Amino acid sequence: MHTVPVVETSRLPLLLRAMPKAELHIHIEGSLEPELIFALAERNGVDLPYADVEALRAAYAFTDLQSFLDIYYAGASVLLQEEDFYDMTMAYLRRAVQDNVVRAEIFFDPQTHTERGVAMGTIIHGLTRACRDAHAQWGISAELILSFLRHLSEEDAIATLEAALPFRDQFIGVGLDSSELGHPPEKFTRVFARAKQLGLRLVAHAGEEGPPAYVWGALNALAVERIDHGVQSEKDAALMQHLVERGIPLTVCPLSNLKLCVVDDLTQHNLPRMLDAGLKVMVNSDDPAYFGGYVNDNYVQLFAATGMGAEHAYQLARNSLEATFASPQQQAAWVQQLDACFARFANRN
Ligand code: ADE
Ligand code: ZN
Repeated sequence: MHTVPVVETSRLPLLLRAMPKAELHIHIEGSLEPELIFALAERNGVDLPYADVEALRAAYAFTDLQSFLDIYYAGASVLLQEEDFYDMTMAYLRRAVQDNVVRAEIFFDPQTHTERGVAMGTIIHGLTRACRDAHAQWGISAELILSFLRHLSEEDAIATLEAALPFRDQFIGVGLDSSELGHPPEKFTRVFARAKQLGLRLVAHAGEEGPPAYVWGALNALAVERIDHGVQSEKDAALMQHLVERGIPLTVCPLSNLKLCVVDDLTQHNLPRMLDAGLKVMVNSDDPAYFGGYVNDNYVQLFAATGMGAEHAYQLARNSLEATFASPQQQAAWVQQLDACFARFANRN
């Protein structure tokens, strides 16, 4: 590993913010800020069950995953036109660039929109155009991952994948999200097999609220390459060993876990223990507009709460870059940027 400088605690947030990183667990619908929700509602003539931005924000007091999802789907109801998907994605990518995110692999939930009559092409064209424009303007690399809603049937997921095939070149993989408990990965075995046949990369949410058995299910029944969340894996020693041996990345989201009451307090978060155990964990924002912070806020708050240092920061950023679905050459170039950033900090000590 690259020699990591000793960085005074007071300068750690600067380093965390400056280091190049990838964000691999971000739901684009979860980046919709209340101000943009209201602007789009007005532009599209959509009625919202909240009087104003403050009333909406005041409703962001979640007790579990489902209490969040109910509001998240209500917020997404303002997305109707290609321009809406474009504006939302540009807003996220502009913000990600400020956080020195060099690569974003972005989830989108087509079923949330197609069931309201929005065409698949409208959704994907808006998202893709933003990814291209952001790359051209700011240099960020951004790709899309189509996520199936696990509270709906596998037949619905299969129909969604088929409807997206005319746009196959505009997304790199498939994922699985929404209400976890009661919807084990095995429910989606056939659609993931089909996606694999199509050469798509595979990820799934597992072990956010659900048991370690769901992480096993995502690995064995769905053949996923990364686990989204996975924080419940710690309850199963054999699973932990398997994740380490196979080098399976876990895309952990600390502020999400806090706001959805998966952990009581950030000081209790198990990311430091998982990192020390040799798991390929990294830090992500999940739904930044709802959970009180973008990716750098997640890093800074987690480090303040747990006392992790510069060597942990290096490993987390490196894990994020090496867990991307970009080419090994591209990953190596980003790791060089990471090393250069740490070398700059070393020279100033
Ligand atoms: N959709 C958006 N955020 C999610 C999360 N944290 N878990 C499951 N589904 C989601
Ligand atoms: Zn998520």
